[in-house]
Parts: sequence; structure tokens; C-alpha cells
Amino acid sequence: MVRVECLEKMYPGRRGAPPVKAVDGISFQVSRGQLVGLLGPNGAGKTTTVKVLCGLIRPDAGQIVINGKDMVRRRLDALEDVSAVLEGNRNIYWRLTCRENLEFFAALKGRDPRAVRREIDYYLELFRLQDKAHTEARKLSRGMQQKLATAVALLAGSQVVLLDEPTLGLDVQSSLEIRQLLKGLVHEQRRTVILTSHDMHVVQDTCERVIIMNQGRIVADDSVRNLLDLFRVKVYHIVVEGPLSPKQRDALAVLPQVQIGEEALKQTVLTVRLDDSQVLYEVFGVLGEEQAVIRSIDQEQNSFEQIFLEILARGSDSA
Ligand SMILES: Nc1ncnc2c1ncn2[C@@H]1O[C@H](COP(=O)(O)OP(=O)(O)OP(=O)(O)O)[C@@H](O)[C@H]1O
Ligand SMILES: [Mg+2]
Repeated sequence: MVRVECLEKMYPGRRGAPPVKAVDGISFQVSRGQLVGLLGPNGAGKTTTVKVLCGLIRPDAGQIVINGKDMVRRRLDALEDVSAVLEGNRNIYWRLTCRENLEFFAALKGRDPRAVRREIDYYLELFRLQDKAHTEARKLSRGMQQKLATAVALLAGSQVVLLDEPTLGLDVQSSLEIRQLLKGLVHEQRRTVILTSHDMHVVQDTCERVIIMNQGRIVADDSVRNLLDLFRVKVYHIVVEGPLSPKQRDALAVLPQVQIGEEALKQTVLTVRLDDSQVLYEVFGVLGEEQAVIRSIDQEQNSFEQIFLEILARGSDSA
């Protein structure tokens, strides 16, 4: 549904500064019905990528194909299949009410007003904006404006929906609603969604795949699950009943991967950092010799946040 090849975008430098290569030769493909998260630190090039994908700015080099249509050579055709919400929700009119905004933009997309009326009700309800249907957009809270802008983009009915920071500034409830909605869109309507976010929870919760950008380049492109697996630091916490015997302490002290906690609440916690599973057998051997009682063994989980930071650190090492 979306194919991006060797995309480049340079901005002229501000006030005599050297030009900025905001997007530096990225390539990726997204198939129909996929929800992909574009993640990266400030200035990574996410918004620029979205702007180029929705035809708002022209790339300096590279190709974008949306549903088989080239965004540069057949821009108007390609645009039929894309709608986008950019940061700062500028795709709504301040002086129009919520309902008017939805009606207006649906009409712009050439949709029959009578046919979309029920859909408008549906989106107003979904985003809990029914009470604000006749309120001017400028009088809505920032979060409500964001939701209205998102509804406008969805109502257009395009195959590809690009959302730049869709949950920025939303309260927890609204953020959860948008996430549910996005998952539904993808699963039921088979729409293709690319969203950018700083919120790892949003990405981890909604996206099956994540593309991580840094300094205009892609530093990782994989399923969320694979990324979690890849960076799972194998750290185990072994809880042993009572204190360790001096013999056990001595035997474990020589293993650099093992850290012995102080005895507390009638138990001792061993932290084992695994580089190979051999260590774990040695630890069990030492404990088993004196029939120590093992209360629990837990593997420490890495959060997606840590993984993200680690990928960025690796990326800059290799640059
Ligand atoms: N209109 C512009 N003129 C000049 N430079 C720009 C312009 N827009 C963006 N840039 C520069 O391009 C780079 C990428 O910016 P972009 O907005 O795409 O990043 P981003 O990943 O969306 O960041 P954020 O997380 O802060 O939204 C930055 O260095 C930014 O300063
Ligand atoms: Mg941005």
C-alpha cells in the first residue's frame, strides 16, 4: 500500500546555518491493513517523512508510491488514497463547528453529504464529541481539537491514514479510546495506518511493527515483539529461603555474573546476569548441594523504552 524508496529531504539552513538533512535516504514498505509506528527523538525526521508521504512537501530524491500511484508524478491520484493529521491539528477550521468541519471536509473529498451523515454521528459518538457537535472548533480543548482532526481524516475514507502524534496532549481516557479506534480501523476496515509518537506505550499497544528513526535515518525496522526479544537482557532473580551458608556464599562469590543480596524477610535474592546458560546450572548446583529452598525465579523484563534508548545508542556508535 505504501512504498518508500531512498527518500531524501533537505531543508535550507536557518539564518546562515548549514542545510539540514531531515530525511537521509530511507526506504520501507507498508502493506494493506498494517499499523506501523514511526518512533524517534526530537528532530529525527518523523514529521518531515509524514509531510512528504502526504504530498505536502516534495522530496529532493527518492520515490513514494501509494496504492500503486507515484506521489511525485501522479500527485493528485495518489492523494485520493491518503489523509493525514499533522502535529498542531491544522486540518480543521476554527470558525466551523465540529459537525460543520466534518461535513465540509467530507464534501471536499467528494463524498455525498447524505451518505456521510450517519458516519459523522458515528465518529462524533466514538470520540465523545456529540455534546460539542455545534461548538466552534476554536472553543474546543486541545485534546478535543486533536480528536476532531483525527475524525476528519478518518471520515475522508482514504486507504492510508497518516497520524503525526495522534495522542499528544490527550488525557488517559481519550488516548486509550484513540488507540482502540486505530486497532479497530486496521482490523475491521483494513486501513493502513502510519503514526508517529513519542509515547512508547501507544506504540507498544497499537502497532505490530515499529520503524525507529534517528537523524534522518532508519535505525531499526521490526515487529515490536522482535525488538522486545532482541533486547531482552537475561537477568534472573532467584529468591532463596533463609540466609545462604558461608560455603554457598563463597561458591557463588567467585561467579562474576551473580550478585548476592542481603538476607531480608527470611529470604535472600540472587541476581544472575546471563551471558550463557551455564552460569544458571552452576548456581543451581551450589544451591542444590545443601538443598536450599528456591521460592521463585523471575526473568527481568526490558521495557520498550529502554530498548528504544539502546537502539539509538547503538545507532550513534556505528555512525
Ligand atoms: N521548515 C523547516 N525548515 C528548516 N528545517 C526544518 C524544517 N522543518 C524541520 N526542520 C529540521 O528538520 C529536522 C527534522 O525535523 P522533523 O520535524 O521532521 O523531526 P521530528 O522527528 O518530527 O521531531 P519531533 O519529535 O520534535 O516532532 C530537524 O532538524 C528540524 O530542525
Ligand atoms: Mg514531529
